[in-house]
Amino acid sequence: MKICFNDMLYSFSYALDCVEHELVGVTTYHSKRIAYLSIQLGKYFDLTVEEQLDLAACAALHDNALTEYIEDEYGKGNASKESKKELIIGKHCLLGERNIKKLPFFKDVKGAILFHHECADGSGPFMKKTSETPLYARIIHLADQVDAMFDLSVVTDEKLQKIVSFLKQEEDKLFDRDSVNAFLQNVTPQTLIKMENGQIENVLFEELPYMERDYTPEELIHFSSLYANIVDYKSEFTKEHSLGIAKKCLTMAKYYGYDEEKQAKLYFAGAVHDIGKLVVEHDILEKPDKLTEDEYEHIKTHAYYTYQMLHKIKGLEEITRWASCHHEKLNGKGYPFGKTKDQLGKEERLMACLDIYQALSEERPYKKGMSHERSIQILQKMVNRKELDGNIVNDINLVFQSEKS
Ligand SMILES: [Fe+2]
Ligand SMILES: [Fe+2]
Ligand SMILES: [Fe+2]
Ligand SMILES: [Fe+2]
Repeated sequence: MKICFNDMLYSFSYALDCVEHELVGVTTYHSKRIAYLSIQLGKYFDLTVEEQLDLAACAALHDNALTEYIEDEYGKGNASKESKKELIIGKHCLLGERNIKKLPFFKDVKGAILFHHECADGSGPFMKKTSETPLYARIIHLADQVDAMFDLSVVTDEKLQKIVSFLKQEEDKLFDRDSVNAFLQNVTPQTLIKMENGQIENVLFEELPYMERDYTPEELIHFSSLYANIVDYKSEFTKEHSLGIAKKCLTMAKYYGYDEEKQAKLYFAGAVHDIGKLVVEHDILEKPDKLTEDEYEHIKTHAYYTYQMLHKIKGLEEITRWASCHHEKLNGKGYPFGKTKDQLGKEERLMACLDIYQALSEERPYKKGMSHERSIQILQKMVNRKELDGNIVNDINLVFQSEKS
C-alpha cells in the first residue's frame, strides 16, 4: 500500500510533540525542530537522498519512547520533574531504539536513537565516545541539546552568538568536532528563523524530496504499533487499549476473510483510533472522579484530533475515516461528525463496536474488566437504541466467545 513518507513523518512528530511538551516541558514543536535542524546539519556530510530521509525520520522519532518510559518509571512514583528529567537518560534511548527496529528505513540506522545522548568525551549514558557513536546519533544529540538549552522556537542574534560560543567550548566534550563544524558552517540566522513556531510546520520537510513508498502489510503493522505505544502509554488507565483494539480488528478482519492488506489496514485503524488523545490533558484523562460536563466535552474532542492528525497523510484516507469515526452512532448522535447510518460503512461500525467492547473488558484503576457475556449485553442494548450495528455485535459475540472459553 502506497503512503507518503513525508506526511507520515510529519504526523508522527506532531504526536510526539504533543506528549513531549506536556511530559518534559520542552517547548512545542521540539521534535519537528530537531528533525529540521538535523537535516541542515546532515547537508555538511553529503548524505544521499535516502540517508537524508532516514536521518529526518530518526530525528523526528528520537524521543518516541518518552510516554512509555515515564509511565513505567514514574507512573506510580512521586519523583520531582527535575529528577525525572535526569533519570530519563538511557532508558528511553533503549526503548526508543527497540520501538523503531522494525520500521522500514532505507538503510541501516542502528544506534541512531540508542546513542542520541552520548557525549564525545564518553560521559553519556552508555559511555560511548565519538568513534563508537553513529553519525545520525551525534547529529541528533547536538540538535536536541541545543534546542533543550536555548529554545530554538525564538532566536535572536544574541542567542545565536551564545550558541556558537557554547558549541566551541563543548567541542570534543559534549559534542564531536564534525557535528560542531556542521552547525557552524550550515546554520545561519536565516536557518534558525525558519524554526520559529509559526513557520516550522511549513518548512520542516520542504527541503526533503517528496517520497511515496509502498509498505507491506507487515510494515503497516509495525508502523501503527508504534503509534499505539505512544498513545497507550500516555495514560495508566488505557494502557494497551489501542493495541488491544488493533489486535481485535485483525481477528475480525480474518473472520471476514479480508485479504492481508485490508487486515493490516484495519489493524492500523485500531492502533491509531485514539491518537487524538495525545492532545487531551493528562490530568483529565486520568481523573479518577466523575468528569464535569466541560471535561467530558474536552475528552470528546479526541476523535476529531485523530482525524486532524491523520487526514493529511496521502494514502491513509480510508484508515483515517475508519479510525476517526469510532465514536459515531448509527442514529446520528455520535461524534465528532454526527454521521448517520447511511454514511457509516462496515469498517467504521466495526471500529465503534470494538472500541466499546474493548473498553468494557479492560481493567482500570477504578473498575474491574467485564466478562464477555456482560459486555455483549451492553452492546446489545446499544443495538436496541439504534446506536450500533446488530450484525457486527453478533459477529463479535461469536468470535470472542470462543476466544474466552
Ligand atoms: Fe532524548
Ligand atoms: Fe528531545
Ligand atoms: Fe476514543
Ligand atoms: Fe478508544
